[in-house]
Amino acid sequence: MNKWGIIATWKMAVDGVAIGADILKNKGKCQDAVEKAIMEVENDPLYTSVGYGGLPNENCEVELDAAFMDGKTLSMGAVAGIKDYKNPVSIARKLSEDRFNIFLVGDGAEAYAHKNGFIRQNMLTERAKKTWETRMDEITQKNLSPYDGHDTVCMISLDSEKDMAVATSTSGLFMKKRGRVGDSPIPGSGFYVDNEVGGAAATGLGEDIMKGCLSYETVQRMRNGVSPMKAAQSAVEDFSEQLRKRRGVAGAISIVAMNNKGEWGIGTNVEFSFVVSTDEKELKSYLATPIFNEDKTIKEIKIEEM
Ligand code: GLY
Repeated sequence: MNKWGIIATWKMAVDGVAIGADILKNKGKCQDAVEKAIMEVENDPLYTSVGYGGLPNENCEVELDAAFMDGKTLSMGAVAGIKDYKNPVSIARKLSEDRFNIFLVGDGAEAYAHKNGFIRQNMLTERAKKTWETRMDEITQKNLSPYDGHDTVCMISLDSEKDMAVATSTSGLFMKKRGRVGDSPIPGSGFYVDNEVGGAAATGLGEDIMKGCLSYETVQRMRNGVSPMKAAQSAVEDFSEQLRKRRGVAGAISIVAMNNKGEWGIGTNVEFSFVVSTDEKELKSYLATPIFNEDKTIKEIKIEEM
C-alpha cells in the first residue's frame, strides 16, 4: 500500500483532517487535501482564530492571512490582511499557479480575489464582535495587554504519488494593529515544504516565529537526516533558548512536521494539540505538553491521545 499522511495544528482541525484523509485514502492529491481540509476550518464560525468567525483587529475588522505551497514544484502563493473573502487558502492556492505577483496584501489581494471569482463574505460574526466589545471594555478598565490568540491552522500532507503540500490560514493576533502580518503567510517562517525532504508549519506568536524562520529551519534539519520529531523539537527548543537569552522572553511556538516517508513530529514550548491521520494509523487528536527543567529549558514533551 502506498504511503499517505496528513498532520494539522490544533484539535479544531479534526473535521478538516478527516476530509483531507478521505481524499488521500482515495488516491487524491495532497494539494486538494490541504486546501479542502483548511476550508472546512475556515468555514466554521466557532473557530475564533481562522476564517469566518476569526477575531478582529483593534478596529473590529477581520483581516486574514493564508498561504499554500506545493512540494513538487516549490510553487507558493499567499495573501495577507485580506478582508471579506470566504476562503483565503483557496486564493493563496490560486496565486501559487502564477509566475509573478504570488504574494498579495490588503486591497490588492481583494481585487485579485474578485477578478478570479472568489466568494465575498462578511467574515465578522456577531459572536466575534461581542468578544471584541468585551475585550475593549476589559482593556480600558483593567489596563490589560490587548494581544491574545494566534491559533493558526496549518496542514501538511503526503499523497500516494509521494507529492507533498502545505497550507496555513489564520486571523492572526486578536486586537492586532491594522495591517499587522504574522508568520503564517510568510514562506519559511509559517510554512515550507519540499518533496525531496518533507514539510513543516508553525503556530504561535508570529513575531517570534519569524525571527527564526522556523518552518524552513525544521525542514533543513530533516534534510540533514534528522527525524521530523527531533527536527521540530530541536528547532523550537534551540530557538526558544536563543530568544530567552537574547531578548529575555520566548513567545508560544509550536511546529508540526512530516517527511516524505509519512513520518511525523511536533515541537512546542507550550501545551499544544494537533491531529494526524496516516495510512498506518487512523485519525487521532493528540495533546503535547512540554515538561520544563528549572532553567526553563525543555526536559521532555509528553504526547497523549486526546
Ligand atoms: N501565528 C499566527 C500569527 O502570529 O499571526
